[in-house]
Amino acid sequence: MTAGGRQAFQDCAIESYSKTPSPALTCPAMNEARFPWTRLRRNRRTDWSRRLIAEQRLSANDFIWPMFIIEGENRRMVVDAMPGVERLTIDLAVGAAEQAARLGIPAVALFPYTDQSLRDATGGEALNPKNLVCRAVAAIKKAVPEIGVMCDVALDPYTSHGHDGLMRNGEIVNDETIDVLVKQALVQADAGCDIVAPSDMMDGRIGAVRQALESNGLTHIQIMAYSAKYASGFYGPFRQAVGSGGMLKGDKRSYQMDPANGDEALREAELDVAEGADMIMVKPGLPYLDVLWRIRDKLKVPTFAYQVSGEYAMIMAACANGWLDADTVILESLVAFKRAGASGILTYFALDMAKRLRTQL
Ligand code: PBG
Repeated sequence: MTAGGRQAFQDCAIESYSKTPSPALTCPAMNEARFPWTRLRRNRRTDWSRRLIAEQRLSANDFIWPMFIIEGENRRMVVDAMPGVERLTIDLAVGAAEQAARLGIPAVALFPYTDQSLRDATGGEALNPKNLVCRAVAAIKKAVPEIGVMCDVALDPYTSHGHDGLMRNGEIVNDETIDVLVKQALVQADAGCDIVAPSDMMDGRIGAVRQALESNGLTHIQIMAYSAKYASGFYGPFRQAVGSGGMLKGDKRSYQMDPANGDEALREAELDVAEGADMIMVKPGLPYLDVLWRIRDKLKVPTFAYQVSGEYAMIMAACANGWLDADTVILESLVAFKRAGASGILTYFALDMAKRLRTQL
């Protein structure tokens, strides 16, 4: 096009657009030229250009890897509803944690499968300093001191009724549960756990745990609060993996959040930060990206998403059927968390993704 021709084209385009006062054609707030001077597809045309303009980049640094632990030696046990996920004995878990550290994964989260004979109404095994998870923490920290180790603070792997707290007359009692959770957190911290993560959704537990850590000289222990933990159907495969599903009496709606509520999640997160949480978590993940975004945007604290067992199962089931492409959707689901403001993601895909991302560098 000649210079004169281009001018005429521009005049004509401006003329026709100015006759069409559609807000879609102007971006005054962004101070952006209009079509055709702005063509967003230009930046998207080539692979090198897409890589240059990418707003998010996933790396192994973004992951916390949840692992299931069983008693015994040199033994692995599949989780039916989570193809690709295995429960490991402590010796194998140590090897897996070494591998995770080598791949650059910053932390693992440990979940014990407690023998049914050790479960009772009050979850007493949670306070045994030699319980399965404490031994796993100690073994991993000894062999792989450079990896962060996180533990759930909640009673559900230890109670005969499968609830996260103490039960009286069919109710989960708040304040007495806190007393036990505080002791559980101290036992885990003594075992060498770096991050205690109360996942029980009792009111006031973060402040109580922080207070106890401070007064016991455990001032460096981090707290990741499961602040916005919803009463979700997506935890089913996890409960199978830790053996608490079959025994669960009723549901957890009197303490976990109603999926309908977003404002309430902000109140939960604000309280937890005020009570001394270092990090906040939203759970489940993809169905609650709006909650993640709101918390991160408002509170500006490190905020994590937990892509839970049911989300993992959905993706794996569809991929196993050939209905979805695993490589595409796993990456897409994880980058979505980053776009929504996640500092990091608890995901059962962590190890595989870390391997894949390394070969892509
Ligand atoms: C227990 C706990 C649960 C999960 C993490 N910690 C289950 C529950 O609250 O019933 C779920 C994780 C997952 O589904 O992957 N307090």
